[in-house]
Amino acid sequence: MIEFENVSKQYNQGGYALQDISFSIPDGELVFLAGPSGAGKSTLLKMIAGIEKPSSGRIIVNGQDITRLRAGSIPYLRRKLGLILQDQHLLNDRSVLANVMLPLIVTGASSAEADGRARAALEKVGLADKASAYPLELSGGEQQRIAIARAIVNRPKIILADEPTAFLDRDNANKVLNALKAFRSAGVTCLISSHDEQFLDQASRVIYLQQGRLTDNWHDAA
Ligand SMILES: Nc1ncnc2c1ncn2[C@@H]1O[C@H](COP(=O)(O)OP(=O)(O)OP(=O)(O)O)[C@@H](O)[C@H]1O
Ligand SMILES: [Mg+2]
Repeated sequence: MIEFENVSKQYNQGGYALQDISFSIPDGELVFLAGPSGAGKSTLLKMIAGIEKPSSGRIIVNGQDITRLRAGSIPYLRRKLGLILQDQHLLNDRSVLANVMLPLIVTGASSAEADGRARAALEKVGLADKASAYPLELSGGEQQRIAIARAIVNRPKIILADEPTAFLDRDNANKVLNALKAFRSAGVTCLISSHDEQFLDQASRVIYLQQGRLTDNWHDAA
């Protein structure tokens, strides 16, 4: 469960990036975060991951008020989340498999366990045969699916994806979306920001933001 209670965010005393946002998302939903450029979509996702702090209000993730976490606890929060952010890149000098194993190695898994789980994650995004390739040998869509495999290898209960289909053609965008939908079927909560109106009807819920405010169009779509 993800709950926002009257959350506002002001960057550097400027205008409001988000203003008085309240909603709750039950477990296992596939939620699309829609709205024009500058509406506050990335800000909202970053606050759930503890990358940005709200200026006021509370954010509760699985019963824990993350706005009150000490800085030292943020890495533990992150490990429970699968993060697919716009500016997260793959390491080009390491194989696809090594990239996907990385989050497990960092948290102290044995290399045998990390190897097995990374291969299973690659299987889920349909790229098991690319394990020993290098990122630059892959298409943009394939690289994006590798980033998804890396985000889910820790078996998070929540996946946050910021514009995961930006710059992809329709075919690759559909593959990315299908991979995310499969996690939802497995009970994972997915929050996906997108400009891509075609995908809105695939979501179980849609959150529309406009100039930092939640519009009234919050609804159950499917
Ligand atoms: N680090 C920052 N410092 C100051 N202002 C920021 C910062 N990040 C975002 N903003 C401002 O907050 C508002 C919301 O930005 P945000 O990135 O959340 O929008 P967005 O909906 O993700 O847009 P896009 O669709 O273009 O990615 C914008 O007005 C932006 O200029
Ligand atoms: Mg954004």
